[in-house]
Amino acid sequence: MRAEDWDERYAERQQWSAEPNALIAELLVGLPPGDAVDLAAGEGRHALWLSGLGWGVTAVDFSDVGLVRGRAQPGADRVTWVTADVTTWWARPASLDLVLVAYLHLPEAETTALLTRAVGWLRPGGRLLVLGHDVENITAGVGGPQEPTILHSVDRLAPVAALLDVERLEQVRRQTPAGTALDTLLWGRRPGPDTGSRR
Ligand SMILES: C[S@@+](CC[C@H](N)C(=O)[O-])C[C@H]1O[C@@H](n2cnc3c(N)ncnc32)[C@H](O)[C@@H]1O
Repeated sequence: MRAEDWDERYAERQQWSAEPNALIAELLVGLPPGDAVDLAAGEGRHALWLSGLGWGVTAVDFSDVGLVRGRAQPGADRVTWVTADVTTWWARPASLDLVLVAYLHLPEAETTALLTRAVGWLRPGGRLLVLGHDVENITAGVGGPQEPTILHSVDRLAPVAALLDVERLEQVRRQTPAGTALDTLLWGRRPGPDTGSRR
């Protein structure tokens, strides 16, 4: 989908719950705050939640309408909101403690290229968290995009996982009102000594 299509969706109504995804919250809640980027942040539910925990967060999305909704929320002034295409946006090398990519679905080659660049933005010991719809969700899950070429799988994320010390790379189940959805999770750290260089 193009930025205009997402703008239209966001203009219709709020798309996502204001709450963070439960698995993302579980993985991140106990970490010491640092510098984070939320790529394809949408309405900013994760950026706002992280910022409330003391993280310095940059929220990037190409839908200005989605970001405007996030900017209207309490605490939004603590987040840096950037309207940009994530496939061309970049952060300084080794400047981040966390890159979060939740439910961003691009063609496989673009996903691999983006996530490979994102690993380079992490400080040694910094974390990459990717969560999105698994390709098997189309046949064995509920909801989500129905275009198989843009969905995740353990195999498709394996080249990026190879750049990390992986804690989890697996298909995970997510309960929704409509039934059980299947997601793929990649959760790992950039190798190297943790420099403790958080803000
Ligand atoms: C399903 S929403 C997820 C939003 C958010 N991560 C969340 O979990 O609530 C997907 C988001 O990806 C954004 N997006 C898709 N392709 C993008 C691109 N090339 N550059 C920037 N944002 C993009 C859309 O605008 C949309 O906000």
